[in-house]
Amino acid sequence: MQPANFHIRHEEESDAQALSALSAQAFGPGRFARTAYRIREGVPPVASLSLTAVIGDRLVGGIRFTAVRVGEEANALLLGPLVVDPGQTGNGYGSALIKEGLARARTEGFTLVLLVGDMPYYGRFGFKPVPPGQITLPGPVDPARLLALELVPGALAATTGMVRSTARSNKN
Ligand SMILES: CC(C)(COP(=O)(O)OP(=O)(O)OC[C@H]1O[C@@H](n2cnc3c(N)ncnc32)[C@H](O)[C@@H]1OP(=O)(O)O)[C@@H](O)C(=O)NCCC(=O)NCCS
Repeated sequence: MQPANFHIRHEEESDAQALSALSAQAFGPGRFARTAYRIREGVPPVASLSLTAVIGDRLVGGIRFTAVRVGEEANALLLGPLVVDPGQTGNGYGSALIKEGLARARTEGFTLVLLVGDMPYYGRFGFKPVPPGQITLPGPVDPARLLALELVPGALAATTGMVRSTARSNKN
């Protein structure tokens, strides 16, 4: 059960340090070598979809999305990182961040959300494994962990090719 003073707001500049610390704790130094990290490197996340979960003034988690092109599809997103304070997991904060982020992404006209992550967690939000070989990343990824969620019906079937970050990242 979430406390009454729990809410989700836009990420602020002053959140960056706490979010980096949570990512370092969750993903370790190996995160810099991950393919998803390499796609995001040097490209700002979509500001309107960079969300922070707080209890009062205390940051307990955050989510970001990067705008990507996949082959000819120019309105896709790569979800990540998603991180929740390890002392605050299991309270629905991760789910709340994902649901809010996806709702906003849909409103903004994005068609497809990709991520590299655990199907047992992300399946509950409607993510499904990408059929092997349909979408490729510029680096090694376990195919079973490349997941997609359609924001527009049929978007996944219509999308093939290589994932690349795009410069058209910030809409607000
Ligand atoms: C994964 C993470 C974001 C979940 O945040 P959270 O606030 O605990 O999530 P919720 O409270 O919404 O959901 C908790 C549920 O998800 C389950 N869950 C968490 N991580 C899971 C995983 N990797 N695989 C399967 N289930 C998972 C929990 O067991 C719990 O199950 P329950 O609802 O049946 O009790 C958080 O644990 C975290 O930051 N982990 C480290 C970073 C990470 O792995 N990020 C995602 C990588 S793509």
